[in-house]
Amino acid sequence: MGIKKVFIKTHGCQMNEYDSAKMLDLLKNEEKFEITKNEEEADLLILNTCSIRDKAQEKVFHQIGRWKKIKIKKPDLRIAVGGCVASQEGEKIVKRAPAVDIVFGPQTLHKVPGLYKENLYTDKAQIDTSFPKLEKFDFFPSTDNSGASAFVSIMEGCNKYCSFCVVPHTRGHEISRNVVDILNEVSSLADRGTREIYFLGQNVNNFKGSYKGSSTSLAKLIELTAKVENIDRIRFTTSHPYEFKDDLVKVYEKVPELVSHVHLPVQSGSDRILNLMRRRYTIEEYLELIDKIRSIRPDMSFSSDFIVGFPNETDEDFAATLDVVEKVKFDESFSFIYSSRPNTPASEMPDNVSVSEKKERLDLLQSKLSQLSFGYSRKMVGTVQNCLITGSSKKDPGELQARTFNNKIVNFKPRNFRIGDFVNLRICEAYTNSLRGVVDTVAS
Ligand code: SAH
Ligand code: F3S
Repeated sequence: MGIKKVFIKTHGCQMNEYDSAKMLDLLKNEEKFEITKNEEEADLLILNTCSIRDKAQEKVFHQIGRWKKIKIKKPDLRIAVGGCVASQEGEKIVKRAPAVDIVFGPQTLHKVPGLYKENLYTDKAQIDTSFPKLEKFDFFPSTDNSGASAFVSIMEGCNKYCSFCVVPHTRGHEISRNVVDILNEVSSLADRGTREIYFLGQNVNNFKGSYKGSSTSLAKLIELTAKVENIDRIRFTTSHPYEFKDDLVKVYEKVPELVSHVHLPVQSGSDRILNLMRRRYTIEEYLELIDKIRSIRPDMSFSSDFIVGFPNETDEDFAATLDVVEKVKFDESFSFIYSSRPNTPASEMPDNVSVSEKKERLDLLQSKLSQLSFGYSRKMVGTVQNCLITGSSKKDPGELQARTFNNKIVNFKPRNFRIGDFVNLRICEAYTNSLRGVVDTVAS
């Protein structure tokens, strides 16, 4: 029998991307799978799903429908569905789409090789969406990822229960990974050429670990990570403003490796809506936090997530959102139309903002956000930015792509550089989604 091939499609957040990469490592290790980019030649098709908004969920069944057609021509093909939709729907997925052979949740992805084997053996659908806490991390083999920037998941789940959000229901309660395991993962990535670590967690700044007998917050973990040789940049996402305590603010003073960019979702500019969302902060508190961080790093760049059209959101509430955008001057943010999710407290409230109002608000907000983001890009023109080379340019493989501190993409013509090098680039042009640069001097 030839080498088996797996195709993985990932929807949603960075945490899902991390999980998919780990699943691939496991399948390579345990079942000698090879990755393919061609669905038609795969023996196993995996969909790692997202259920954060209803559109994301609908995409799942459309995708399975397309894959079913391949399966009709190739009966040995197996289809696996994992992630948050799987966690939420469980065996209902197989009932609605019998072409699916394996269903697994965000906490059971390490079981996929076993579920696959069992399915081949018994020809019965295998479903495991249980929540064995952190068990999966014990099964991940050391990665062969040698990218310049790498995600490292440091905690799972969320206890915040924002009234609109499914994550606490699909990913379970917060639980932090062991600090030594995290540092080992970081060191092994650094040995393979990774220069930037991107810590992941749904509520990442509530990380609670312990190291050498003393409790370890995210701030402490960042300090420990900065000491790992060859790690020159550290990022983390997603932070909740409520958990952004003073020790984390202070770490911007102490650790130059921590980039001057943070994703700090505000969701809305109206205290009334924030209260209905159960976000646990007021706009005044949020703005105080921004000021505190900017007093340490005046060049700090902030990005955010926004929800428009939350139940009972008035024009006044929305105006307050535009106001906070103006005050903070966010860079590169994400904004979404509110989507009612099953089993969330907000789903009990009337979804009473009309579709046309929601769309209108979204358009207004997005045009304001993109103006601001483009403004930052334009201001960078003429400056020299220390950038990390992360890969080839998407549009022109003859060019390289690098990232600035605020995660903007810069395309440039290469000289003798390798992925993972830092380079000083003089920014010469700003486009909507990227920058163009020329090499200034070689950085270490
Ligand atoms: N842990 C993060 C967010 C995770 S979900 C935090 O602290 O905010 C990513 C983003 O999706 C959220 O910030 C929110 O803006 C959006 N989102 C979550 N649930 C949503 C829903 N029901 N409708 C619309 N957008 C939603
Ligand atoms: Fe969701 Fe709020 Fe947690 S947005 S992931 S419940 S912080």
